[in-house]
Amino acid sequence: MKKACVMVAGGAGYIGSHTTVELVEAGYDVVIVDNLSNADISAVEGVRKITGTEIPFEQVDCCDRAAMDRVFSKYRFDAVIHFAAFKAVGESVNKPLEYYRNNLDSLMTVLETMLAHGVPNIVFSSSCTVYGQPDKLPVTESTPRQAATSPYGNTKQMSEDIIRDTAKAHPELHGIALRYFNPIGAHPTALIGELPKGVPQNLVPFITQTAAGIRECLSVFGDDYDTPDGSAVRDYIDVVDLAKAHVVAVARMVEHKSKANYEFFNIGTGRGLSVLELVHAFEKVNKLKLNYKIAPRRAGDIVAIWADTSLAEKELGWKAERSIEETLASAWAWEKHLRGI
Ligand code: NAD
Ligand code: WQD
Repeated sequence: MKKACVMVAGGAGYIGSHTTVELVEAGYDVVIVDNLSNADISAVEGVRKITGTEIPFEQVDCCDRAAMDRVFSKYRFDAVIHFAAFKAVGESVNKPLEYYRNNLDSLMTVLETMLAHGVPNIVFSSSCTVYGQPDKLPVTESTPRQAATSPYGNTKQMSEDIIRDTAKAHPELHGIALRYFNPIGAHPTALIGELPKGVPQNLVPFITQTAAGIRECLSVFGDDYDTPDGSAVRDYIDVVDLAKAHVVAVARMVEHKSKANYEFFNIGTGRGLSVLELVHAFEKVNKLKLNYKIAPRRAGDIVAIWADTSLAEKELGWKAERSIEETLASAWAWEKHLRGI
């Protein structure tokens, strides 16, 4: 039987590269499409090395309709996974037009090209940011979305709506949005991982860079929240587990098991961890002391969020498997690999 073929748009990036590995290992043919605006070709090489497969790579901007037409004509895709977007919340506040242009244009161009070439299935990278600070925890898929507090968050809400409306107008189209919680960690081979540009804004890359001596001290933003130890609580999802969620989402659509043209699922662990708990777990598993201090709360941060993942478990047969210890060990192994430590 011919293997299904998946376009991974944004596949040279952090989550896209890990997803490509899991797709290949699950028996899919994959083509990576990326304009390398926030990635390095070394990620594609890492994915090829891990899988032992010469995965095709097309350096193309997903907003470029003519170039996308060429890629869709060259291969016969059964599904697209759409990661290609800008993702820095803070930056999006200062560069709203760049975020709206890139994140919405790339999605709409992908959808238009899919319809023109008869490609029926799309998985979309959404985010728990669509929930804001929910009144009740954990959040389920029926927890209402809240008004976005950043242009980035707004692009995720608008993108979900664009897919929902397009799938409604084109019954041949199926879409699944995965609402990721906080993706962290790296592949166990340490050949691929996150490549933050400049000073990391996210917690785990800041921790690993501090441990590597690149940053002097981690600031723990707030210890006076209404949480057990006063620091903010998040649901940290291992990137390999997250990658596997994409594989099952593609399979659901390719095997015609979707229950609706547009579906969305929470992808987290179902467990909340505080910043301090995470710092201490990192120290323990990697047998080191991290230089950190308590600092004021970061503007715009919510207090706590974690996922109810029962819908993903029931419908996709997916749940997170890697322990936080394994994940934090993999994050440190990747940082050491990058720095040659
Ligand atoms: P990333 O920046 O590592 O990956 C995105 C990739 O898309 C990059 O390789 C970039 O070069 C590429 N890209 C961007 N715009 C493009 C365009 N117009 N054409 C072609 N390629 C383009 O980010 P990531 O962490 O892997 O995130 C992937 C997706 O998941 C994004 O949509 C992001 O918003 C979403 N997401 C990420 C997180 C997170 O914390 N990392 C959480 C929730 C959702
Ligand atoms: C986690 C916790 C910080 C850095 C962001 C986006 C969200 C989603 C995931 C894309 C918070 C604290 C952090 C530091 C710290 N991305 N922290 N010191 O803010 O939960 O979510 O990434 O969709 O939309 O908003 O993740 O990793 O930045 O922070 O104390 O140096 O770590 O205050 O409580 P966040 P994060």
